[in-house]
Amino acid sequence: ARGASLTDFADKVGVDAASLVQVLFHMGEMVTATQSVNDETLQLLGEELNYDVQVVSPEDEDRELLESFSLEFGEDEGDEADLAARPPVVTVMGHVDHGKTKLLDALRKANVAAKEAGGITQSIGAYQVVTEVDGNERAITFIDTPGHEAFTAMRARGAQATDIAILVVAADDGVMPQTVEALNHAKAADVPVVVAVNKIDKEGADSTKVRGQLTEYGLVPEEYGGDTMFIDVSAKAEIGLDALLEAIVLTADAELDLRANPNQRAEGLAIEAHLDRGRGPVATVLVQRGTLRVGDSLVAGPAFGRVRAMLDEFGENIQEATPSRPALVLGLTAVPGAGDNFMVVEDDRLARQIAEKREARERNALLAKRSGRRTLEDFMSS
Ligand code: GTP
Ligand code: MG
Repeated sequence: ARGASLTDFADKVGVDAASLVQVLFHMGEMVTATQSVNDETLQLLGEELNYDVQVVSPEDEDRELLESFSLEFGEDEGDEADLAARPPVVTVMGHVDHGKTKLLDALRKANVAAKEAGGITQSIGAYQVVTEVDGNERAITFIDTPGHEAFTAMRARGAQATDIAILVVAADDGVMPQTVEALNHAKAADVPVVVAVNKIDKEGADSTKVRGQLTEYGLVPEEYGGDTMFIDVSAKAEIGLDALLEAIVLTADAELDLRANPNQRAEGLAIEAHLDRGRGPVATVLVQRGTLRVGDSLVAGPAFGRVRAMLDEFGENIQEATPSRPALVLGLTAVPGAGDNFMVVEDDRLARQIAEKREARERNALLAKRSGRRTLEDFMSS
């Protein structure tokens, strides 16, 4: 049990805490019954008592928590016939100052839908762009938290939000340390990469050099016989943006089978959340499966609530959000963390129960840290 005190451990294994204190004393550890003990100590105690003490990750622990409510996160329900195409979810990565933020802004403006809505967009941490490819309107979802913090944070929580990574490389600067770092993140996540060679408007821009450099890292441009699309762009001069959007769609079509069941209980990820003065906790969620609707009861990490209203990136009210759609959700009781998963459950009561258990667990972990001990990531099975 993560963050368990000696008393909790004693309860689990069915002995009294006082005798555990004694056992530990003989092992040279001075611990009181209410104190938390580290995982090595728990394992040693386990051996003494003939208990198999296993270490589990917070993700595994959460899986077990959901299981105790007969819930599971992360699976499409139903079969093949229930799956429908969904837009790719894209993250922009790259070295400092290579133009990630500028590119995201430029792409936001290149959105056909934005033009229809009068070009007014508000940043909710993610947005969808509609582009035309071969005469078809295609949507792409961008997670616009720049840098790879978002990517890393979500991956650290075992949440895979991104389908495609755009690697931004400034053509006047070339491949830099964080370019390689970003590339390695994408490789580790097994996510296809589209390279945006940015700042081609600048003097000294050498996009050929960038292609050569990245080839050495295994990203071989299509024009050199490889399978990575390189697109020359200028976020500033707004050059090559449609080509970049098209490259994303083509990469998704060629390498990924992006489908989800829109007709199930909605679930996905909280991308960003904060406390708004007037509106209370607001969270941008990315729906991954199912359709999220106003009125749904949901639990997002240690937060829960009923969806009071949903807004899109234009600040417009929406009634529902289908797979790959980001939406700003109002109505939660607390602020979830970035990368926390959310799921719709039957009713508020269940949502509250799950949230409370998660909260208690986090509190315990926090206490364990505060007491100067390592966070316990142990779980005992007997
Ligand atoms: P960090 O978030 O700090 O890592 O930077 P970033 O990658 O988000 O870069 P950002 O978009 O802030 O751009 C950095 C600088 O490059 C800014 O001054 C931009 O105006 C400039 N810049 C970005 N794209 C272009 C471009 O295509 N051409 C030119 N000339 N300048 C650009
Ligand atoms: Mg930036």
